[in-house]
Amino acid sequence: MVNKVTVVGAGNVGATTAQRVAEKELARRVVMVDVAEGVPQGKGLDQWQSAPIEGFDARVVGTNGYDETADSDIVVITAGIARKPGMSRDDLLNTNAGIVKQVSENIKRTSPDAIVIMVSNPLDVMAYVAKEVTGFPRERVLGMAGVLDTGRYRAFLAEALDVSVRDIQAMVLGGHGDTMVPLVSYTSVSGIPVTQLMPREQLDAIVTRTRNGGAEIVKYLKTGSAYYAPSSGAVQMVEAIVRDQKRILPCAAYLQGEYGMEGLFLGVPCKLGRGGLEQVIEVELTNDERVALQKSADAVREPMGALKL
Ligand code: APR
Repeated sequence: MVNKVTVVGAGNVGATTAQRVAEKELARRVVMVDVAEGVPQGKGLDQWQSAPIEGFDARVVGTNGYDETADSDIVVITAGIARKPGMSRDDLLNTNAGIVKQVSENIKRTSPDAIVIMVSNPLDVMAYVAKEVTGFPRERVLGMAGVLDTGRYRAFLAEALDVSVRDIQAMVLGGHGDTMVPLVSYTSVSGIPVTQLMPREQLDAIVTRTRNGGAEIVKYLKTGSAYYAPSSGAVQMVEAIVRDQKRILPCAAYLQGEYGMEGLFLGVPCKLGRGGLEQVIEVELTNDERVALQKSADAVREPMGALKL
Protein backbone atom coordinates (compact mmCIF):
# COMPACT_ATOMS: atom_id res chain seq x y z
CA MET A 1 0.00 0.00 0.00
CA VAL A 2 1.27 3.49 -0.83
CA ASN A 3 0.24 6.67 0.88
CA LYS A 4 -1.65 8.43 -1.88
CA VAL A 5 -3.04 7.77 -5.35
CA THR A 6 -4.67 10.67 -7.19
CA VAL A 7 -7.10 10.26 -10.06
CA VAL A 8 -7.61 13.38 -12.18
CA GLY A 9 -11.04 13.44 -13.82
CA ALA A 10 -13.94 12.08 -11.79
CA GLY A 11 -15.99 11.01 -14.80
CA ASN A 12 -16.77 7.44 -15.75
CA VAL A 13 -13.20 6.18 -16.10
CA GLY A 14 -11.80 8.26 -13.24
CA ALA A 15 -14.44 7.45 -10.65
CA THR A 16 -14.36 3.73 -11.47
CA THR A 17 -10.56 3.77 -11.23
CA ALA A 18 -10.68 5.47 -7.81
CA GLN A 19 -13.22 2.92 -6.59
CA ARG A 20 -11.11 -0.04 -7.74
CA VAL A 21 -7.91 1.43 -6.23
CA ALA A 22 -9.71 1.92 -2.90
CA GLU A 23 -11.32 -1.54 -2.91
CA LYS A 24 -7.95 -3.18 -3.54
CA GLU A 25 -6.43 -1.08 -0.73
CA LEU A 26 -3.60 0.09 -2.97
CA ALA A 27 -3.38 3.46 -1.18
CA ARG A 28 -4.25 4.86 2.24
CA ARG A 29 -5.78 7.91 0.56
CA VAL A 30 -7.41 8.09 -2.86
CA VAL A 31 -7.98 11.63 -4.16
CA MET A 32 -10.28 12.45 -7.08
CA VAL A 33 -9.83 15.85 -8.76
CA ASP A 34 -12.22 17.37 -11.28
CA VAL A 35 -13.15 20.83 -12.51
CA ALA A 36 -16.86 20.04 -12.09
CA GLU A 37 -17.85 21.59 -8.77
CA GLY A 38 -19.21 19.12 -6.25
CA VAL A 39 -18.88 16.06 -8.49
CA PRO A 40 -15.59 14.68 -7.12
CA GLN A 41 -16.64 15.58 -3.57
CA GLY A 42 -19.98 13.79 -3.93
CA LYS A 43 -18.54 10.71 -5.62
CA GLY A 44 -15.68 10.57 -3.09
CA LEU A 45 -18.05 10.66 -0.16
CA ASP A 46 -20.30 8.03 -1.73
CA GLN A 47 -17.35 5.70 -2.40
CA TRP A 48 -15.95 6.17 1.09
CA GLN A 49 -19.33 5.26 2.59
CA SER A 50 -19.07 1.91 0.80
CA ALA A 51 -15.85 1.17 2.74
CA PRO A 52 -17.50 -0.22 5.89
CA ILE A 53 -19.72 -2.45 3.74
CA GLU A 54 -17.06 -3.62 1.26
CA GLY A 55 -14.48 -3.73 4.04
CA PHE A 56 -11.60 -1.61 2.79
CA ASP A 57 -9.38 0.81 4.67
CA ALA A 58 -8.75 3.51 2.13
CA ARG A 59 -10.10 7.02 2.52
CA VAL A 60 -11.56 8.37 -0.73
CA VAL A 61 -11.93 12.14 -1.10
CA GLY A 62 -12.87 14.48 -3.93
CA THR A 63 -11.69 18.01 -4.61
CA ASN A 64 -11.53 20.75 -7.25
CA GLY A 65 -7.95 21.78 -6.43
CA TYR A 66 -4.53 20.22 -6.12
CA ASP A 67 -3.66 20.89 -2.44
CA GLU A 68 -5.25 17.59 -1.39
CA THR A 69 -3.21 15.73 -4.02
CA ALA A 70 0.18 16.90 -2.73
CA ASP A 71 2.91 14.26 -2.64
CA SER A 72 0.92 11.60 -4.46
CA ASP A 73 2.85 8.43 -5.21
CA ILE A 74 0.87 7.77 -8.39
CA VAL A 75 -1.38 10.04 -10.47
CA VAL A 76 -3.80 8.56 -13.02
CA ILE A 77 -5.00 11.14 -15.57
CA THR A 78 -8.44 10.59 -17.09
CA ALA A 79 -9.47 14.24 -17.58
CA GLY A 80 -10.70 15.31 -20.97
CA ILE A 81 -13.70 15.99 -23.11
CA ALA A 82 -15.37 13.89 -25.76
CA ARG A 83 -15.55 15.09 -29.36
CA LYS A 84 -18.47 17.48 -29.87
CA PRO A 85 -20.38 18.10 -33.12
CA GLY A 86 -18.46 20.44 -35.42
CA MET A 87 -15.12 19.74 -33.72
CA SER A 88 -12.32 18.50 -35.92
CA ARG A 89 -9.92 15.82 -34.69
CA ASP A 90 -7.21 18.47 -34.36
CA ASP A 91 -9.56 20.73 -32.34
CA LEU A 92 -10.25 17.85 -29.97
CA LEU A 93 -6.57 17.01 -29.81
CA ASN A 94 -5.63 20.53 -28.84
CA THR A 95 -8.51 20.92 -26.36
CA ASN A 96 -7.49 17.74 -24.55
CA ALA A 97 -3.81 18.64 -24.83
CA GLY A 98 -4.65 21.97 -23.12
CA ILE A 99 -6.42 20.09 -20.31
CA VAL A 100 -3.58 17.59 -19.91
CA LYS A 101 -1.04 20.42 -19.96
CA GLN A 102 -2.83 22.26 -17.15
CA VAL A 103 -3.19 19.03 -15.14
CA SER A 104 0.49 18.15 -15.71
CA GLU A 105 1.67 21.56 -14.53
CA ASN A 106 -0.29 21.10 -11.31
CA ILE A 107 1.11 17.61 -10.77
CA LYS A 108 4.66 18.78 -11.36
CA ARG A 109 4.13 21.52 -8.74
CA THR A 110 2.39 19.44 -6.07
CA SER A 111 3.67 15.87 -6.64
CA PRO A 112 7.14 16.20 -8.20
CA ASP A 113 8.02 12.55 -7.46
CA ALA A 114 4.80 10.96 -8.73
CA ILE A 115 4.50 8.25 -11.35
CA VAL A 116 1.95 9.36 -13.97
CA ILE A 117 -0.35 6.96 -15.78
CA MET A 118 -2.13 8.57 -18.73
CA VAL A 119 -5.57 7.31 -19.73
CA SER A 120 -7.00 10.38 -21.55
CA ASN A 121 -7.22 10.00 -25.33
CA PRO A 122 -5.56 10.21 -27.78
CA LEU A 123 -3.53 8.28 -25.30
CA ASP A 124 -0.10 8.07 -26.87
CA VAL A 125 -0.07 11.79 -27.68
CA MET A 126 -1.42 12.83 -24.26
CA ALA A 127 1.32 10.79 -22.55
CA TYR A 128 3.83 12.75 -24.63
CA VAL A 129 2.24 16.05 -23.50
CA ALA A 130 2.48 14.97 -19.84
CA LYS A 131 6.13 13.98 -20.24
CA GLU A 132 7.04 17.25 -21.98
CA VAL A 133 5.21 19.43 -19.45
CA THR A 134 6.28 17.66 -16.25
CA GLY A 135 9.81 16.97 -17.45
CA PHE A 136 9.59 13.67 -15.54
CA PRO A 137 11.93 10.88 -16.71
CA ARG A 138 10.37 8.19 -18.87
CA GLU A 139 10.37 5.79 -15.93
CA ARG A 140 7.63 7.94 -14.38
CA VAL A 141 5.29 8.61 -17.32
CA LEU A 142 3.34 5.71 -18.81
CA GLY A 143 0.19 5.30 -20.87
CA MET A 144 -2.56 2.75 -20.34
CA ALA A 145 -3.79 1.17 -23.54
CA GLY A 146 -2.15 -2.19 -24.10
CA VAL A 147 -3.57 -3.71 -20.94
CA LEU A 148 -7.07 -2.74 -22.08
CA ASP A 149 -6.57 -3.88 -25.67
CA THR A 150 -5.05 -7.13 -24.43
CA GLY A 151 -7.96 -7.57 -22.04
CA ARG A 152 -10.41 -7.31 -24.91
CA TYR A 153 -8.38 -9.72 -27.05
CA ARG A 154 -8.11 -12.26 -24.20
CA ALA A 155 -11.82 -12.04 -23.42
CA PHE A 156 -12.78 -12.71 -27.05
CA LEU A 157 -10.30 -15.61 -27.30
CA ALA A 158 -11.50 -17.18 -24.04
CA GLU A 159 -15.09 -17.01 -25.20
CA ALA A 160 -14.32 -18.53 -28.61
CA LEU A 161 -12.26 -21.37 -27.08
CA ASP A 162 -14.53 -21.83 -24.07
CA VAL A 163 -11.58 -21.66 -21.65
CA SER A 164 -10.75 -19.52 -18.64
CA VAL A 165 -9.68 -15.95 -19.37
CA ARG A 166 -6.87 -16.58 -16.89
CA ASP A 167 -5.20 -19.08 -19.22
CA ILE A 168 -4.90 -16.74 -22.21
CA GLN A 169 -1.53 -14.99 -22.53
CA ALA A 170 -1.27 -12.30 -25.15
CA MET A 171 0.42 -9.06 -26.15
CA VAL A 172 -1.10 -6.19 -28.08
CA LEU A 173 1.46 -3.59 -29.15
CA GLY A 174 1.43 -0.27 -30.99
CA GLY A 175 -0.73 2.81 -30.63
CA HIS A 176 -4.16 2.79 -29.02
CA GLY A 177 -6.26 2.93 -32.15
CA ASP A 178 -7.21 0.89 -35.14
CA THR A 179 -3.51 0.46 -36.02
CA MET A 180 -2.82 -1.53 -32.81
CA VAL A 181 -0.80 -4.72 -33.33
CA PRO A 182 -2.10 -7.88 -31.61
CA LEU A 183 0.86 -10.29 -31.63
CA VAL A 184 -0.58 -13.59 -32.79
CA SER A 185 2.87 -15.22 -32.59
CA TYR A 186 2.94 -14.46 -28.81
CA THR A 187 -0.63 -15.53 -28.08
CA SER A 188 -0.98 -18.77 -26.16
CA VAL A 189 -3.37 -20.74 -24.00
CA SER A 190 -1.39 -22.00 -21.02
CA GLY A 191 1.65 -22.11 -23.26
CA ILE A 192 -0.07 -23.75 -26.26
CA PRO A 193 0.23 -21.50 -29.34
CA VAL A 194 -3.27 -20.25 -30.14
CA THR A 195 -2.72 -21.10 -33.82
CA GLN A 196 -2.89 -24.80 -32.81
CA LEU A 197 -6.32 -24.33 -31.24
CA MET A 198 -8.22 -22.20 -33.71
CA PRO A 199 -8.37 -21.74 -37.48
CA ARG A 200 -6.59 -18.68 -38.86
CA GLU A 201 -9.80 -17.04 -40.16
CA GLN A 202 -11.39 -17.18 -36.70
CA LEU A 203 -8.25 -15.69 -35.16
CA ASP A 204 -8.20 -12.92 -37.77
CA ALA A 205 -11.84 -12.08 -36.98
CA ILE A 206 -10.96 -11.80 -33.27
CA VAL A 207 -8.00 -9.55 -34.06
CA THR A 208 -10.32 -7.29 -36.09
CA ARG A 209 -12.90 -7.22 -33.29
CA THR A 210 -10.14 -6.30 -30.81
CA ARG A 211 -9.04 -3.39 -33.02
CA ASN A 212 -12.62 -2.10 -33.04
CA GLY A 213 -13.25 -2.95 -29.37
CA GLY A 214 -13.74 0.63 -28.23
CA ALA A 215 -16.00 1.57 -31.14
CA GLU A 216 -18.19 -1.51 -30.55
CA ILE A 217 -18.98 -0.23 -27.06
CA VAL A 218 -19.52 3.39 -28.14
CA LYS A 219 -22.05 2.10 -30.67
CA TYR A 220 -24.07 0.51 -27.86
CA LEU A 221 -23.73 3.34 -25.35
CA LYS A 222 -24.32 6.08 -27.94
CA THR A 223 -23.19 8.76 -25.49
CA GLY A 224 -19.90 8.08 -23.74
CA SER A 225 -17.33 5.35 -24.12
CA ALA A 226 -16.05 2.29 -22.28
CA TYR A 227 -14.97 2.63 -18.67
CA TYR A 228 -15.12 -0.65 -16.76
CA ALA A 229 -12.29 -2.34 -18.68
CA PRO A 230 -10.29 0.89 -19.13
CA SER A 231 -10.32 1.47 -15.37
CA SER A 232 -9.36 -2.17 -14.75
CA GLY A 233 -6.41 -1.64 -17.09
CA ALA A 234 -5.24 1.47 -15.25
CA VAL A 235 -5.61 -0.24 -11.87
CA GLN A 236 -3.61 -3.27 -12.98
CA MET A 237 -0.74 -0.89 -13.75
CA VAL A 238 -1.19 0.93 -10.42
CA GLU A 239 -1.14 -2.41 -8.59
CA ALA A 240 1.99 -3.62 -10.40
CA ILE A 241 3.76 -0.44 -9.29
CA VAL A 242 2.41 -0.26 -5.72
CA ARG A 243 3.16 -3.92 -4.99
CA ASP A 244 6.46 -3.85 -6.93
CA GLN A 245 5.26 -6.88 -8.86
CA LYS A 246 7.73 -6.60 -11.80
CA ARG A 247 4.86 -7.53 -14.09
CA ILE A 248 5.39 -7.60 -17.85
CA LEU A 249 2.48 -5.64 -19.27
CA PRO A 250 1.91 -3.92 -22.59
CA CYS A 251 2.03 -0.18 -21.84
CA ALA A 252 2.63 3.00 -23.78
CA ALA A 253 6.25 3.90 -23.03
CA TYR A 254 8.50 6.66 -24.32
CA LEU A 255 10.83 4.97 -26.77
CA GLN A 256 14.51 5.79 -26.83
CA GLY A 257 15.73 3.61 -29.69
CA GLU A 258 13.83 0.42 -28.83
CA TYR A 259 12.21 -1.18 -31.86
CA GLY A 260 14.28 1.28 -33.92
CA MET A 261 12.14 4.24 -32.81
CA GLU A 262 12.53 7.22 -30.54
CA GLY A 263 10.79 10.38 -29.37
CA LEU A 264 7.27 8.98 -29.12
CA PHE A 265 5.03 6.90 -26.86
CA LEU A 266 4.06 3.52 -28.26
CA GLY A 267 2.63 0.32 -26.77
CA VAL A 268 5.46 -2.12 -26.01
CA PRO A 269 6.07 -4.86 -23.40
CA CYS A 270 7.15 -3.13 -20.17
CA LYS A 271 8.32 -4.32 -16.77
CA LEU A 272 6.45 -2.39 -14.05
CA GLY A 273 7.62 -2.17 -10.46
CA ARG A 274 7.98 0.36 -7.67
CA GLY A 275 10.25 2.45 -9.90
CA GLY A 276 7.53 2.72 -12.56
CA LEU A 277 8.82 1.66 -15.96
CA GLU A 278 11.74 -0.58 -15.05
CA GLN A 279 12.45 -2.04 -18.50
CA VAL A 280 11.23 -1.93 -22.07
CA ILE A 281 11.41 -5.45 -23.44
CA GLU A 282 12.29 -5.90 -27.09
CA VAL A 283 10.77 -9.04 -28.56
CA GLU A 284 11.41 -10.57 -31.96
CA LEU A 285 8.73 -9.63 -34.46
CA THR A 286 7.73 -11.18 -37.75
CA ASN A 287 8.13 -8.99 -40.83
CA ASP A 288 4.39 -8.31 -40.95
CA GLU A 289 4.34 -7.35 -37.26
CA ARG A 290 7.31 -5.02 -37.71
CA VAL A 291 5.63 -3.28 -40.65
CA ALA A 292 2.36 -3.00 -38.67
CA LEU A 293 4.21 -1.50 -35.66
CA GLN A 294 5.89 1.06 -37.91
CA LYS A 295 2.50 1.96 -39.42
CA SER A 296 1.09 2.33 -35.92
CA ALA A 297 3.99 4.64 -34.97
CA ASP A 298 3.27 6.78 -38.04
CA ALA A 299 -0.35 7.07 -36.91
CA VAL A 300 0.84 8.33 -33.50
CA ARG A 301 3.38 10.77 -34.97
CA GLU A 302 0.86 12.41 -37.30
CA PRO A 303 -1.29 14.07 -34.58
CA MET A 304 1.91 14.95 -32.65
CA GLY A 305 2.68 17.26 -35.57
CA ALA A 306 -0.64 19.09 -35.03
CA LEU A 307 0.07 19.71 -31.33
CA LYS A 308 0.19 23.30 -30.12
CA LEU A 309 1.75 23.21 -26.67
N1 APR B 1 -9.18 19.01 -14.82
C1 APR B 1 -9.81 17.99 -14.21
N2 APR B 1 -10.86 17.32 -14.74
C2 APR B 1 -11.30 17.74 -15.94
C3 APR B 1 -10.70 18.81 -16.65
C4 APR B 1 -9.58 19.46 -16.03
N3 APR B 1 -8.95 20.48 -16.61
N4 APR B 1 -11.37 18.98 -17.81
C5 APR B 1 -12.34 18.05 -17.86
N5 APR B 1 -12.31 17.30 -16.73
C6 APR B 1 -13.17 16.19 -16.32
C7 APR B 1 -14.64 16.39 -16.70
O1 APR B 1 -15.28 17.32 -15.83
C8 APR B 1 -15.20 14.99 -16.55
O2 APR B 1 -15.72 14.73 -15.26
O3 APR B 1 -12.83 14.99 -16.96
C9 APR B 1 -13.94 14.09 -16.77
C10 APR B 1 -14.07 13.18 -17.98
O4 APR B 1 -15.05 12.25 -17.68
P1 APR B 1 -16.07 11.62 -18.77
O5 APR B 1 -16.57 12.72 -19.63
O6 APR B 1 -17.01 10.75 -18.02
O7 APR B 1 -15.11 10.75 -19.68
P2 APR B 1 -14.59 9.26 -19.39
O8 APR B 1 -15.49 8.27 -20.02
O9 APR B 1 -14.25 9.13 -17.96
O10 APR B 1 -13.24 9.26 -20.26
C11 APR B 1 -12.12 10.04 -19.87
O11 APR B 1 -10.50 8.48 -20.65
O12 APR B 1 -10.65 6.46 -21.81
C12 APR B 1 -10.43 7.85 -21.91
O13 APR B 1 -11.24 8.39 -24.12
C13 APR B 1 -11.47 8.54 -22.75
O14 APR B 1 -10.25 10.60 -22.96
C14 APR B 1 -11.33 9.96 -22.29
C15 APR B 1 -10.98 9.79 -20.82
